[in-house]
Amino acid sequence: MSTSAQASSSLSPRQLFVTTALPYANGNFHIGHIMEYIQADIWVRYQRMCGNDVNFVCADDAHGAPIMIAAQKAGVTPSAFVDNIAKGRAQYLDGFHIKFDNWSHTDSEENHVLAKEIYLDLKKAGLIETKSIEQFFDPEALEGKGMFLADRFIKGECPKCGAKDQYGDNCENCGAVYAPTDLKNPYSALSGATPVLKASEHFFFKLSDPRCVEFLEEWTQDGKLQPEVANKVKEWFSTRTNADGTTSTGLGDWDISRDAPYFGIEIPDAPGKYFYVWLDAPVGYLASLKDWFNKDGPKKSYGETRTFEQYIAKDSNVEQIHFIGKDIVTFHTLFWPAMLEFSDRKVPKHIYVHGFLTVNNGEKMSKSRGTGLDPLKYLGLGMNPEWLRYYLATKLSAKNEDIDFNANDFMARVNSDLIGKYVNIASRAAKFIQSGKLAPVKTFGTSAPLVQNIKVFYESREYGKAMREIMTFTDEINAVFDNAAPWKLLKDGRADEAASIASTCIQSFKVLTACLKPVLPELASQAEIFLNCGSLSWSNAVTPLPEGHVIGEYKHLMQRVDIKQLDALFEAPAVVETAPQATPDKASTSAVSIEPLAPEITIDDFSKVDLRIAKIVNCEAVEGSTKLLRLTLDAGEGKTRNVFSGIASHYKPADLIGKHTVMVANLAPRKMKFGMSEGMVLAASSADEKSTPGIYVLEPVAGAQPGMRIR
Ligand code: MSP
Ligand code: ZN
Repeated sequence: MSTSAQASSSLSPRQLFVTTALPYANGNFHIGHIMEYIQADIWVRYQRMCGNDVNFVCADDAHGAPIMIAAQKAGVTPSAFVDNIAKGRAQYLDGFHIKFDNWSHTDSEENHVLAKEIYLDLKKAGLIETKSIEQFFDPEALEGKGMFLADRFIKGECPKCGAKDQYGDNCENCGAVYAPTDLKNPYSALSGATPVLKASEHFFFKLSDPRCVEFLEEWTQDGKLQPEVANKVKEWFSTRTNADGTTSTGLGDWDISRDAPYFGIEIPDAPGKYFYVWLDAPVGYLASLKDWFNKDGPKKSYGETRTFEQYIAKDSNVEQIHFIGKDIVTFHTLFWPAMLEFSDRKVPKHIYVHGFLTVNNGEKMSKSRGTGLDPLKYLGLGMNPEWLRYYLATKLSAKNEDIDFNANDFMARVNSDLIGKYVNIASRAAKFIQSGKLAPVKTFGTSAPLVQNIKVFYESREYGKAMREIMTFTDEINAVFDNAAPWKLLKDGRADEAASIASTCIQSFKVLTACLKPVLPELASQAEIFLNCGSLSWSNAVTPLPEGHVIGEYKHLMQRVDIKQLDALFEAPAVVETAPQATPDKASTSAVSIEPLAPEITIDDFSKVDLRIAKIVNCEAVEGSTKLLRLTLDAGEGKTRNVFSGIASHYKPADLIGKHTVMVANLAPRKMKFGMSEGMVLAASSADEKSTPGIYVLEPVAGAQPGMRIR
């Protein structure tokens, strides 16, 4: 790092370039995304209250095979697919008061240009090499056309810890990074087929180069990362597990290319080869910033006007900070800083890693309350977004620990702390202020250290500690109020003393409002109107409002959480709109009542069920039963099977004879009143047959032959 950058980072105001991870554009936000944005948004709002200059950007991560495949399924181009997802972002972000300066996407012109520039710089530095590698190919994917499998579409057991069903790039259980070919017992997540190895020319970023290793060993261990993250990363420098189970020392080279068909950025001078999505995704941070400069114009700092290039220059005083989740640490602590360093660009100042959010204890939650927390449903129920911001703030710390959203805890924190303690101060004190004018106050000395501590907590992302300290202060203020009992003073004709106590409380309420403002921007702005104090920042937080200052009329600042709202939030929906979320243009909405999903199974569980194509060679009514039909099935076994099926109410025997269907072939034979049933025929029905009647026997697309296995 150049000395000028070091020296200037102590300049005021600080220049901050802040991002959150770029969400994959293959689906809407879930509550985990919202948590990450709220964490970063609180930090950014805190910085702005310090008077620091912040550019806070994000973007959709548009590339990669999953989006390509999702788009294909939806029958639209990948770009159109991503556009559709992008259109849905604002309602979440606005809804939860998450205020990015800019939102772009990684298929932008800026990103294409920047990714290629960085790649060419790395190539010039001698850090790119090509080699032919054997890679997993799914011969059955894309209707039998076959394709090389993206890491995300290969699953298997982690070579390091043995965890099942891990993706081909890194293990979500132990954090290990590996090549898909390192996985044990791999299978294609697209078709379930066992992938075959096929050779192809690939491009590599030589992370094993001594220059990279030396740089990263220093960069990851010099205080930029949380201690627990730095320790984890340190392990990756020493050992790595190879495909054959042996271990090597040091970092492995990073495969940065993918073969067509791929939705991504084509590698210069390499037709048919694309950057792996994780190469151009972090470049998207810079591309979104550039897009922001293009739209908003150059930024002023220290009286200078800075273009994008000047702002982000290697030796500028800008602090580049990325908020991310614990599952994407390798990309941000190894690949990304190395890409930047060796293309002669500014490297991040910090990577702030958070844990995962679970809801009502993950899986172990009660059935009646469902399994997730849908952010839009939350807003749709009229629940206050600041309840969630506050609750998450009470749970968040500087550590990358998982946190749990607990419905009862949520209600308690909001109702007893936020409303019962903080809002309560204003609501009870306001009644004793005479003609809206603040009276002289006796003591007002305790708030400067409070604000100082709170600032330190925000800066270090110890929001939970900040919230606790704020609540301790509200307790003190409420105690001052209770002890003085202004309602008694009023009865005793000592209205001036009552007004003085109330004014003390209002002054403290102002300090508390400033302290909570990064978390509760909307509530704070209502409180600012009540206080008639202008916009609160750290510079004016502890300055008392002058004697005689006229405050506004008190209007109730926040509703309490109603248990009914939480019940509704977690209630499994009776009727689900089955609209594919990404394609509103061609969405077919049907109001079928959908049963809740069965518990998750592994591919191993699934493969225990042997499903075969069977031809219905005969079908007849069963005497004495109004429900059953007797089917004679040919599943290519050289003999037929007798199967009873409860479909008589919906099919006449003649409807079915000669058709192909799907049979469970390894179900234990069952003796029924009318004979032996040697299998089961698959049929679809709705959970609530009254609202959507019908039973639909499965029939394969033409061409399937009796005996073929279904997987
Ligand atoms: N597209 C990549 C990131 C590229 S950054 C150059 C990606 N996208 S993601 O949509 O899967 O995740 C986006 C962010 O959300 C990540 O930081 C991830 O850790 C975070 N979260 C995903 N699930 C989460 C929770 N349940 N809880 C908290 N954060 C979670 O990874
Ligand atoms: Zn593992």
